[in-house]
Amino acid sequence: MNRRRGLYCLLTVAVLISCPPAPAQTSPSPVEITVGTHGKSISPDLFGIFFEDLSYAADGGLYAELVQNRSFEYTAADAKGWNSLTGWDLAVNERAIASIRVENTEPLNARNPDYAVLEVGKADGEVTLRNSGFDGMAIKAGEVYLLSLFARQLTGRPVPLLVRLEGKSGEVLASALLPAPTNMWQKYSASMTATKSDAEARLALVKTTPGKLGLDVVSLFPVHTFHGHPNGLRADLAESIAALKPKFIRFPGGCLVHGDGLPNMYKWKDTIGPIEQRAEQPNIWRYHQSLGLGYFEYFQLAEDIGATPVPIVAAGVSCQNSGASVTGKWGLGQQALPWPEMPSYVQDVLDLIEYANGPSSSTWGSKRAAAGHPEPFHLRYLGIGNEDAQSDAFRQRFKMIHDAVKAKHPEITIIGTVGPDPTGADYDAGWRFANQQHIEIVDEHSYRSADWFIENQDRYDNYKRNGTRAYIGEYAAWTNHISNLYCALAEAAYLTGLERNGDVVLMSSYAPLLSKIGHSSWEPDLIHFSNSEVFPSISYYVQQMFSTNSGDSYFDSLSSVPLRNEDLAFSAVRNSKSGNLILKLVNYGGRASHLRLKLPENYAKEASATMTLLTGDPMTVRNDGGSSILPVTSTVAVSPEFDYEAPAYSLTVFRLPPIALRPSSIISSP
Ligand code: AHR
Repeated sequence: MNRRRGLYCLLTVAVLISCPPAPAQTSPSPVEITVGTHGKSISPDLFGIFFEDLSYAADGGLYAELVQNRSFEYTAADAKGWNSLTGWDLAVNERAIASIRVENTEPLNARNPDYAVLEVGKADGEVTLRNSGFDGMAIKAGEVYLLSLFARQLTGRPVPLLVRLEGKSGEVLASALLPAPTNMWQKYSASMTATKSDAEARLALVKTTPGKLGLDVVSLFPVHTFHGHPNGLRADLAESIAALKPKFIRFPGGCLVHGDGLPNMYKWKDTIGPIEQRAEQPNIWRYHQSLGLGYFEYFQLAEDIGATPVPIVAAGVSCQNSGASVTGKWGLGQQALPWPEMPSYVQDVLDLIEYANGPSSSTWGSKRAAAGHPEPFHLRYLGIGNEDAQSDAFRQRFKMIHDAVKAKHPEITIIGTVGPDPTGADYDAGWRFANQQHIEIVDEHSYRSADWFIENQDRYDNYKRNGTRAYIGEYAAWTNHISNLYCALAEAAYLTGLERNGDVVLMSSYAPLLSKIGHSSWEPDLIHFSNSEVFPSISYYVQQMFSTNSGDSYFDSLSSVPLRNEDLAFSAVRNSKSGNLILKLVNYGGRASHLRLKLPENYAKEASATMTLLTGDPMTVRNDGGSSILPVTSTVAVSPEFDYEAPAYSLTVFRLPPIALRPSSIISSP
């Protein structure tokens, strides 16, 4: 189906199902909002991000590797029809005899068992092994690319290997000669500068003499990665993530963590060290994990973007909905690690903390240091479990891991899980268990309609203040799996409720974060991308407006009429670092709203403030060209009492000049 036509049809359905009210006249008398002078402390970590490798978020996405199936480890367990040569093509002219196959005797190492054997029987001209990357390779003129591979001459005379970057039509964009290989596995590398851009380029390895050549871990990276790290991340995508200025980053999943049956559980130790030693495995979202983006790279990304790392480990059970690779359909049910395996599993979790925070003289801290980071990564949070069914098997294993971590690392805050939904049996049982066990935070998930978010703005107003706190780890508003401005504003209204309850809701993150066009496992998503472009959604801008305007104290306000009756939501926070008072005003209704804003007494005279406005047609969906609705920032004059007309379907953020607060006006949360 034509993609744009598909989007149009979805849009039509959305209009029928969730049509916001039609625009009407401006209301006559202003709604008055008086901002109070008392602030209560709220979480400084409220707005973060959640990265999961689904929809090609890692391989083919954020991870800057351009070669697909670089280690020849793809199998049909990754995706139907895939095999160890998926992504590769051998071109042999009619006068030559050559073949490509995969072998596993005397591999590079036991964790990387398969390698390719390129055998040329008769060479007459070129025999070319090509990799077309993830839907082609986006090569840019003037950029430097680093090619590396492991090779071993198995038979025949060793000769230098020619490598080329080729455009879609075969044009040579760059080339290099690698030294003649020896008869032992050895790494070879070369850098190449592209003379032309091509969005669908390929990598070619060219052989012109008879013999058998073993090849493995064939890798191609742009030298220009995010923060210039080797084995790094795609700069444009990472920059769009960094621009959210998230306070934390949760990773690596989601469903990915507890995996598709027990053998597929995410094992962090398999994801560190040299890339050729990482034990690749299928991705529960029906593709492959090279694990080139592994725990070191996640921690490094967190550090680069100034976000606190929040790794999630499985609670010793698999996903209750998993098992597709075993049974061919979802629903194998939750499986638990046998008890004899639990002590070593718990030790893996403790080792993860040592890897992140331990001295470089410690066993696991030394591996971090060997990767180039002797300083600790300052891990403060650890999530155990994801959306798990609250069975006895889960609870017992969770408790075993939780208690072991707390005994050795009381400084680590643990995040539990309360099932996949914001209501229901697992949710209720999860909260009960969390409070009984004194778990500090639990992770709630809400993928719901826009109207659900609007109706649930007050959801946390009556949550218990002296027990387990909440992390809204995954949420998104949608209508028939699409998002539009109306959905984004529903999220904004909900976020004002999180700020108001920032003493009990400590963290939140929209999900999913990334989705590659043409490979979506889930809709909607915060950022869509192709090989060469990045398309932030409207929700992305809502997230950004909240995260870059967050506070650490919340000011109650009084309104002349209930704001809900006017389709309005409001919050006022102060950021103690900058001193700014920040007002957020959401108008999710179809008419402009005339407001009178009354500021705290500290604002005695007129001052200039910045105002950021996001507004437009509520039915505007993201599309492959990204959001056509963008926030606009201007400077405005505000007085102690000022009028503002909030446009229909809008989010407005006022960032007011710094104010000093009397210490007595801060009420700490219990
Ligand atoms: O965000 C997509 C998926 O939604 C996550 O993997 C899972 O935790 C949830 O069900």
